[in-house]
Amino acid sequence: MLRRFIRPGGMASFDNTHLTRLTDLINQAVRDVISEYTSVGHAVPSLDTLDPGPFPTPEAVPARLRKAIQVIEAACAQLSCTVALPGSVLLNKSLEHEEPACLLVATEARIADLLLDKPEGLPSSELAGHTGLEETKLTRVLRLLATRHCFKEVKPNVFANNRLSIQLLSTGAMSSIVGYFTDEGLRASSYLNEFLTTSSGAGDDSDNPFKRSSGLRLYDYFKTDQGHQRGKRFTRAMIGWGDATGQGFLSKVYPWDTQPENTTVCDVGSGNGWVSIGLLRNYPHLRVVQQDQPQVIETAKELWAKELPIAVEKGRVEFIPFNFLEDAAVEGCDFYYLRSILYDGLLHNWPDSECKLILNNVRKSMKPRSKLILDEYVLLEATSTRVVDAHNSDVNLDFAPEPLLANYGAGKIRAYNMNLLMMNIFGAQERTFSELVSLW
Ligand SMILES: C[S@@+](CC[C@H](N)C(=O)[O-])C[C@H]1O[C@@H](n2cnc3c(N)ncnc32)[C@H](O)[C@@H]1O
Repeated sequence: MLRRFIRPGGMASFDNTHLTRLTDLINQAVRDVISEYTSVGHAVPSLDTLDPGPFPTPEAVPARLRKAIQVIEAACAQLSCTVALPGSVLLNKSLEHEEPACLLVATEARIADLLLDKPEGLPSSELAGHTGLEETKLTRVLRLLATRHCFKEVKPNVFANNRLSIQLLSTGAMSSIVGYFTDEGLRASSYLNEFLTTSSGAGDDSDNPFKRSSGLRLYDYFKTDQGHQRGKRFTRAMIGWGDATGQGFLSKVYPWDTQPENTTVCDVGSGNGWVSIGLLRNYPHLRVVQQDQPQVIETAKELWAKELPIAVEKGRVEFIPFNFLEDAAVEGCDFYYLRSILYDGLLHNWPDSECKLILNNVRKSMKPRSKLILDEYVLLEATSTRVVDAHNSDVNLDFAPEPLLANYGAGKIRAYNMNLLMMNIFGAQERTFSELVSLW
């Protein structure tokens, strides 16, 4: 039940438990973080270190640690918004675009590369000399980033890498993702209001904020001289997205070890198959079927032959091309797995009607006991309510502990940011749980 903080007549209540409940959550979550690191013989790395820590990939992060991090992010943001003066909060929020703008400068200028192996840092005069940027302006950019904990100002006007900025090395995929989000993404979002207030509402992808910013749809823009390098960066960014968000979660989301020998998993729209490769590496007693468009299936065969030839030799993987808008999936598998299919902002913006068609083509092939695994972002409404609706009350959704927003607020903000990015760049969307359920 919601607690009232304003008494009738407008007098503020003296009940401050909403604050102490937030700090209790933070304290408990910090204890959980420390204990997870301690259990693998590590201290929690400080921001100043370049030590990657004991959890090199998102999948390696234990579930309790992942949850604790979300709680800390959510509770710290909610606490700050609660205690700071509202005007101050809003000023800060409306200036937040300066950070991505500075990240783009630092990434394009390869500042992290220049600072590699220089723990004592480099003066901004030297960085300016290497990059051709004007010294005082570059200093202001780096100081804003250091103030937001990316890079470190080791002494006045001298900057060094830290745990965050080292991720921006041009040799890593993160710099490409950051480049894409802060360049094409930021430009598109500056046209969101104009788009919403003047678009025809046609619902197709002929008009979107990115197109308004550049005159072209993204893929057409990448074909121009101006967009060519950005197109290459986009390809690198998409490869890096898998690394940054985790490739191996399918192995973790189901107790595959309890499944009998030869349990079959059909990977619908499997792409090149890297997700199923990860699954069979961990659970070689399973069988998988790869289903995608014919040309994609050919790339999947190549990747399997290179990455997990033993599964190919033993016949544990089958490659069956199909068109999921027209053909039923392979019949009678125990599991049907769809990852980034219903929202596929990379290639299509499948409207509800197409999503229903795809799911129906899976449903037709299912046995009574077959299971469907959807691996998509699930958005939740930003309310305090923790019940989905009367029909889905037994659903085990991941609600945040009170008094956090049920959807974790800042703890899961990436999904909500991505929902906007998809709208701004492709006219695509993520879906809420209820919207996903209504497709089935
Ligand atoms: C965003 S990718 C996801 C791939 C993979 N599930 C993953 O997570 O890496 C979407 C996939 O849907 C496939 N796809 C698109 N249209 C298709 C169609 N009509 N029939 C079958 N597959 C299709 C694409 O080839 C692509 O591999």
